[in-house]
Amino acid sequence: MNILLTGGTGYIGSLTCVGLIEAGEHPVILDNLGNSKPAVLERIAAVTGVRPAFVEGDVRDRACLDELLARHRIDAAIHFAGLKAVGESVRLPLPYYDNNVHGAQVLASALHAAGVRTIVFSSSATVYGDAKTMPISEQAPTQATNPYGRTKLMVEQMLEDLAAAEPDWSVTLLRYFNPVGGHPSGLLGEDPQGIPNNLMPYIAQVAVGRRERLTIFGDDYPTPDGTGVRDYIHVLDLADGHVAALRHRCGRAGVRVFNLGTGRGHSVLEVLRAFEAASGRRVPYVVAPRRAGDVASCWADPARAERELGWRAQRSIEQMCRDTWSWQLANPTGYPS
Ligand code: NAD
Ligand code: WQD
Repeated sequence: MNILLTGGTGYIGSLTCVGLIEAGEHPVILDNLGNSKPAVLERIAAVTGVRPAFVEGDVRDRACLDELLARHRIDAAIHFAGLKAVGESVRLPLPYYDNNVHGAQVLASALHAAGVRTIVFSSSATVYGDAKTMPISEQAPTQATNPYGRTKLMVEQMLEDLAAAEPDWSVTLLRYFNPVGGHPSGLLGEDPQGIPNNLMPYIAQVAVGRRERLTIFGDDYPTPDGTGVRDYIHVLDLADGHVAALRHRCGRAGVRVFNLGTGRGHSVLEVLRAFEAASGRRVPYVVAPRRAGDVASCWADPARAERELGWRAQRSIEQMCRDTWSWQLANPTGYPS
């Protein structure tokens, strides 16, 4: 199949691209390089032996999409492209609605016009807000607590409305928990610009000497050691989840929502210790007050994905740390410009 990957040079898109090539599919990447570098394409080629087709462009640019869709016989799209920083979305909501909501609307319209009826959307566990019960199943109530989360919910709803109006659409909503790790070769990984917002890249930058110490946001949560608990999932497991979702969902009409998580939670201190063991480096830290908007715990019930997609996360927290470290050590300042 020819698969359009919007945001395909980004963190999750690039590793999913590798997974798709290894599964014998033909990805076509569309990315505006707003948060990724062209060097990613060489790295994908180094890992797989295949340089994926690439179009530099924006999902909000209808003419660009129409041209891409006319040139490549696209069977399905995976829509990764978007902005993803929660704090930034609070300060700058409009670019989030523009990139994420308007972007998805332009993409869906262009796919529709081109006769493509299969879309897989990168959603997020953030749509569960402060869930009352763990693990979180897909039936849990949704509730966004910030503009970023609201854009994810809006796009989910828009695609649901589309599938309700036009029953030949196949819409798959994948709610990722906390993706971490990189390719074991050290060639592909997460390359945040500026100060990392997320735990794993922050720890990795402390371990490699780019930052002095980790700040732990709160050690007074109602969790076993007082620090926040999350469902960290290896990005390669996530990539496998996309391949499984495409294989299973292509041609099956209607909307299906899947959690992509491991079903296991790890605390901040557990991740820190696992990273120290994997890297052989000490990771100094200080404890600070809780970060606004954080929940105490969040982990998935991934049973539906296993039952329906035959997919289950395989990789341990040790491997997540090992592969993050291989990437960080080989690319201490990220991808070359
Ligand atoms: P990323 O920033 O590494 O990748 C997103 C890519 O999209 C980047 O390469 C960027 O240049 C591109 N892009 C952004 N806006 C675009 C536009 N308007 N047109 C074309 N390209 C555009 O992010 P990621 O971590 O790979 O996340 C991928 C998707 O998964 C996002 O939609 C994100 O919201 C979602 N998600 C991420 C996480 C996470 O923790 N990383 C968790 C849940 C969901
Ligand atoms: C994990 C834990 C922090 C950094 C975010 C988004 C979510 C999704 C994934 C996109 C928490 C603690 C963190 C640090 C810390 N993204 N922490 N010091 O908040 O679960 O989810 O990324 O959809 O929408 O909200 O992930 O990695 O930021 O935090 O103590 O410097 O680590 O408090 O307990 P989070 P995270």
